[in-house]
Amino acid sequence: MDTIKVTLTEKDIPRQWYNLQADLPSPLLPPLGPDGKPITPDMLAPVFPMNLIEQEVSTQRWIDIPAEVLELLALWRPSPLYRARRLEQHLGTPARIYYKNEGVSPPGSHKPNTAIPQAWYNKQFGIQRLATETGAGQWGSALAFACALVGLECKVFMVRISYDQKPYRRLMMETWGATCVPSPSRETKAGRDILAQMPDTPGSLGIAISEAIEAAVTDPSGKTRYSLGSVLNHVLMHQTIIGLEAKKQLKKFGEKKPDVVIACAGGGSNFGGIAFPFVADKIHGADITIIPVEPESCPTMTRAPYVYDHGDTARMTPLLAMHSLGHGFVPPAIHAGGLRYHGMAPLVSKAIVEGLITPRAYHQLRCYESAVLWARTEGFIPAPETAHAIAAVIDEARKAKEEGKEKVILFCWSGHGLMDLSGYDAYFRGKLTDFALPEDEMKKSLDAIKDLPKPPRKVTVE
Ligand SMILES: Cc1ncc(COP(=O)(O)O)c(C=O)c1O
Repeated sequence: MDTIKVTLTEKDIPRQWYNLQADLPSPLLPPLGPDGKPITPDMLAPVFPMNLIEQEVSTQRWIDIPAEVLELLALWRPSPLYRARRLEQHLGTPARIYYKNEGVSPPGSHKPNTAIPQAWYNKQFGIQRLATETGAGQWGSALAFACALVGLECKVFMVRISYDQKPYRRLMMETWGATCVPSPSRETKAGRDILAQMPDTPGSLGIAISEAIEAAVTDPSGKTRYSLGSVLNHVLMHQTIIGLEAKKQLKKFGEKKPDVVIACAGGGSNFGGIAFPFVADKIHGADITIIPVEPESCPTMTRAPYVYDHGDTARMTPLLAMHSLGHGFVPPAIHAGGLRYHGMAPLVSKAIVEGLITPRAYHQLRCYESAVLWARTEGFIPAPETAHAIAAVIDEARKAKEEGKEKVILFCWSGHGLMDLSGYDAYFRGKLTDFALPEDEMKKSLDAIKDLPKPPRKVTVE
């Protein structure tokens, strides 16, 4: 019988996270404060605990994973690396397709890989409560789960459209002891202001982030901090455990290296997680095509410029150098809620600017078609976000067939879709449509940030 999965043991969980900042061809541009000057770590102290701020700004290549964090991650890690033999056979491709199944975590996605360390570092710092946002509900449930294990309270602002589409995600959060409210809510000034302007808004990650930050910084006890499930450097670093494990597993499958690495990207964390250890190899000469995939309706990487912009709608975060559609942009209500974000991680954006990775966008109908083909060949039902990666994997496998090449394709199967079946329902009943973002709408949203500082396109080290 052919090997179709490689499962490692606890001793193979990586002991260190990989930090791409150490290997970038030129340094990451610093976040800027309201005065346009680089912010200092202590300016972030009301929002994040100092031990995570230190990770955020670190340029050290390897950072040790604390033993207690490893013990918690070992609940489901190492995650299995599968070979998608049945999909390969269906497509008749000479490509070998491997997927890292991050859907095996208790909440069902890659998100706990950072939720656990973030909760743990906050607890170490004496914090009692975390506030956060969630799009699809995967991040909110991951943080609720992590807070339950570590012993913290958790408050989640869930994007309105997902709150309505995915009631079981809210129940998962409540089961783990968290409180979940729809965003925009009346609980914060940011939420009330937005509701006054747009009472029927479906919400967005940018709005929910503003609410969660406000909830953290206005807690008079000083014992609440904010936790972000993607975008930031330390979050992407925590996720590199995916790519580091995949390297060991590919070797056990007898592969030297992947030719193509693919993941969907909302804020960039599962993509950074699987891809960055391979981006490092590419920087050092390896020939690898690395593809982050996003929705056509929220084309941050494929159409939006590299700018300085806020990470949230109410402009509470520092300015980050990133690809952005503008912090006021509210993406159409597609079912891949976790990909409805106006910006992209500074590290992923930087890798695009440096020409290290090649982003791609797909329409939602094509993604659902790919997800259904996947479920009918490989069995597991993917999250709508993951379906974006699958669409690109299928295209790459077909291309390998046309070229007659035995390519090795590795991708991150970022989460299962068992709580996202309302999207499948809408797809099967013919109720889903594709949304392409009109050029004038994008221009209007970008006009609102035209006076913000501009990043130089390339920074050279002296
Ligand atoms: C299953 C799944 N995949 C991908 C994403 C996108 O997030 P990120 O780009 O941070 O990996 C999400 C976000 O909620 C998700 O739930």
